Amino acid sequence: MTRSARFTLHPDFTVGEVNPRLFGSFVEHLGRCVYTGLHEPGHPTADEAGLRTDVLDLVRELGPTAIRYPGGNFVSGFRWEDSVGPVDERPRRLDLAWKSTESNRFGLSEFIDFVRKAGPEAEPMMAVNLGTRGVTEAIELQEYANHPAGTELSERRRAHGDKDPYGIKLWCLGNEMDGPWQTGHKTAEEYGRLAAETARAMRQIDPDVELVACGSSGSGMDTFAEWEATVLAETYDLVDHVSLHAYYWEKDGDRDSFLASAVDMETFIEKVVATCDHVGAKLKSEKKINLSFDEWNVWYMDTPNPHEVAEWEEAPRLLEDVYSVTDAVVFGSLLIALLRHADRVAVACLAQLVNVIAPIMTEPGGPAWRQTTFFPFAQAAKYGRGTVLDVRVDSPSHETKKYGETDLLHATAVRADDGSVTVFAVNRGQTEPLPLEVALAGLGLTEVVEHSVLADANPEARNTLVDQERVTPHAGEGTALADGALTATLEPLSWNVIRLR
Ligand code: AHR
Repeated sequence: MTRSARFTLHPDFTVGEVNPRLFGSFVEHLGRCVYTGLHEPGHPTADEAGLRTDVLDLVRELGPTAIRYPGGNFVSGFRWEDSVGPVDERPRRLDLAWKSTESNRFGLSEFIDFVRKAGPEAEPMMAVNLGTRGVTEAIELQEYANHPAGTELSERRRAHGDKDPYGIKLWCLGNEMDGPWQTGHKTAEEYGRLAAETARAMRQIDPDVELVACGSSGSGMDTFAEWEATVLAETYDLVDHVSLHAYYWEKDGDRDSFLASAVDMETFIEKVVATCDHVGAKLKSEKKINLSFDEWNVWYMDTPNPHEVAEWEEAPRLLEDVYSVTDAVVFGSLLIALLRHADRVAVACLAQLVNVIAPIMTEPGGPAWRQTTFFPFAQAAKYGRGTVLDVRVDSPSHETKKYGETDLLHATAVRADDGSVTVFAVNRGQTEPLPLEVALAGLGLTEVVEHSVLADANPEARNTLVDQERVTPHAGEGTALADGALTATLEPLSWNVIRLR
């Protein structure tokens, strides 16, 4: 039997408060995220606006907060004016990013309606196009969306039927502008200047908007870190956050390295924090730039699409990854990594929400169901609220090809305002159960409320159209709290949520 993994929790040793926006998500005009995902007029569950209420029910259960829109790569060719006004008059356009045809039947107004129905904490996180467009279009969109009335653009919104302003607070200044695949891709200098000028103009309309500058589209980019430093040198006083994007998948059958993906995510976060603080120090600024990890997930991006897709097809089946239990355990570990850095990660968006590398899948005219990754997200969004406690694990470890010696246990703990504590833990070991002992100094905890486990005898098990509930969480066995210590056994390759009060 493997030796126990251990850590100590103490109310005085904390990382920081969790910003609810850590549980954000992302809706891009990509594949079937919008069309036949969120929006399907004529579907038996569609509401008067064409939103699928079966999907809305699952979205509310999932609990996303900030919802980023409309891209992604899509935003770099997005003409916001196309997406408003009478639906039948909206133009059809080529979407260069995904080689699809965009009908614009779902646009800004429909998105805001969706967000308002998506749960009490849902808020829009709007991206502006800094690929093919610039300052003028960004401030025109802001005026259309947020100005109450009395100008041509605000009155246009009102004439379109939306009397109340949308009140969008959080804005992304473009998307992945460092990537050569991005329409209108720029150098760090070019983008930094444009982002600064756009931010300045947007703040002239509303000094309280919150702005995200594009960081690198991945830590493996050749320009990584230098990009952030150059962009922030231009924008430091004008923006609140810098973005990070990361996707992980199993390569060459190296599952141990895949299970340790959060090592890379945590290193990425720490390097971006260091870069932000370096620029702040150079500028002699007291201000801290926070992180917006506004695209993260497991994504098998190099696996060929199993669906046949024609060029310029409307709402094709793209990026419809079907997640295994193993993927969900890695996904949970990524959530743990975000929580462990809650002092600086102020926003994070699971990319994406429906059908496209998503926790929710739908069939046109048919059902909607939960992928394996749905469960860790919903549990973290519900119980990962409060103060993150500083967790330093003493864990058995093993050698991984990519990350060297790696702890088998990956964990964090969050203390809610009522004093209850939730431990989130992953056993990265594929074959052995991992005994866990947690010393609970001074927390006044006496009871295990629940130990929920996501694991399966078949780590390849998945939920599919024909077997929608093949994988669901089950109760852990033998979990106990006595004499100020929690003891539990973490099944091999498992995601665990242990709630204490
Ligand atoms: O989420 C899918 C794509 O991944 C986004 O459009 C882009 O920003 C990233 O490369």
